[in-house]
Amino acid sequence: MGGYEINMRDLGDQAETDGAEIGAVVMGSSREAFRFIDLFAGLGGFHVALTELKGRGVFAAEREPKLKALYKVNFDVEAWGDLNELSGDEAIDFNVPDHQVLTAGFPCQPFSKAGGQLGFKDTSQGNLFFKVHDILRVKRPQYFILENVPNILKHNGGHTKTTIISLLEELGYSVDVEHFSPHDFGIPQVRDRAYFVGSLHGLDHFEWPEKHGDPTEIQWVLRHQAHSTRAIPEQTLRAIDMWGDFLRSSPASLKLPSFPIWSMEFGATYPYVEETPAGIWARRPVRGLSGMGFKGSFGQSLDCSLADQLSRIPSHANRSVDLNFPKWKQNFIRQNREFYQANRQWIDPWISRWNPKGFSSSFQKLEWNAQGEKRDIDNFVLQVRASGLRVKRPTTSPSLIAFTQTQVPILGANLAGERRYITPVECAELQSLGGIQLPSSDIDAYKALGNAVNARVVKAIAERLLKGLLRPVSGIPSDLEPLRAAE
Ligand SMILES: C[S@@+](CC[C@H](N)C(=O)[O-])C[C@H]1O[C@@H](n2cnc3c(N)ncnc32)[C@H](O)[C@@H]1O
Repeated sequence: MGGYEINMRDLGDQAETDGAEIGAVVMGSSREAFRFIDLFAGLGGFHVALTELKGRGVFAAEREPKLKALYKVNFDVEAWGDLNELSGDEAIDFNVPDHQVLTAGFPCQPFSKAGGQLGFKDTSQGNLFFKVHDILRVKRPQYFILENVPNILKHNGGHTKTTIISLLEELGYSVDVEHFSPHDFGIPQVRDRAYFVGSLHGLDHFEWPEKHGDPTEIQWVLRHQAHSTRAIPEQTLRAIDMWGDFLRSSPASLKLPSFPIWSMEFGATYPYVEETPAGIWARRPVRGLSGMGFKGSFGQSLDCSLADQLSRIPSHANRSVDLNFPKWKQNFIRQNREFYQANRQWIDPWISRWNPKGFSSSFQKLEWNAQGEKRDIDNFVLQVRASGLRVKRPTTSPSLIAFTQTQVPILGANLAGERRYITPVECAELQSLGGIQLPSSDIDAYKALGNAVNARVVKAIAERLLKGLLRPVSGIPSDLEPLRAAE
């Protein structure tokens, strides 16, 4: 470990400027380098990182009761609940103890691509940045680290970022922002996040940690004795077998498509450029596509009732509002039909073996993100998505999010000994939170881990930002240490 000792001289200086309380810290606990608070604390990614640097958490806030209770179990800090209830300067001053470092992963939905993008206008969540701002204004800690989704840097044409920075600068902080992903630090997860750092002492002493592009392996976080607490549904396993057979059947000399493979377009000829099925149903309300010589998915006849026609046109093409398809969809349809025509000699037998028509729509699609790799489906990380079964190289895990049960990544048998879901404990390793207790229900654990900040990334930033509060005992910053494979 690139460890740190407390720099007693700095703490002494600190005590002089900050008064008796910090002085008491120096006298009372020689192990404590600084005090920090953890706002929107969640599972406590910031807490884990800063305690490794010998900081002491003196306040946290987390609205979700189960996470608040877990914070107490993990860190022995009784967290405040809803930060909206900490209103007014006096209440802040009274309830929030003095500290040198403020951390906050303020809620990101208002700024995220997946959310409504209302930003600061989101009165329930977007304004929580201003709560952070109030606490900084009233308590004036020396440093802060804020985390959010990278889209916050582009939100509202970059205006949100400049607003945040100028509001923080008005408080006297020097501010900088950069984005990092755990895989930049040798952790097998791609998860880009924006980090704002601020300092009342300027940022001349500070340099962002270097991103190193060394390859990572999901194997590093897998526990080989682990068993998933939940079995993979039969239909999912069959879909994996079906696509495994597809990969095996494809000639080695053939480059597999980099576009999504939509098997339901194999054998289809219904119109999709000048006109769409919905257009024909509007124009010919009685017979629809019947008698026009077109074929539906897997070459099914469309000389049938309107209800049957609807079920034989793929779900991506059968909505009554779809009178024109966007260019990207037209391209995917065309590419899939051409791919099928050029490869019928091995695809037709595959269709007869598996009857993909009998699978739900998402299982009829494959996203092959492992171009050039050996085509054994059990070598990969798989994820069931609305857009299809995604097959990913085992270099990194899919970014952790609040997975639904179906979206939890599946590890191929050659990676994990058997096909199984990745466990919450393994996901915790992906967030560098291996040492803490997790929510007891798997789904709550995936959700909390999907919201958490990666502790190693925070530590790499914090040990550079907080140099004035710490004294390195080893020249090696901790982010350069290799990730230890889990037992
Ligand atoms: C993006 S997550 C931050 C996660 C945290 N940094 C971690 O490492 O787990 C935001 C957290 O803020 C909490 N939260 C949202 N609104 C809140 C509020 N008004 N007061 C306190 N906590 C809130 C959510 O429950 C969620 O756990």
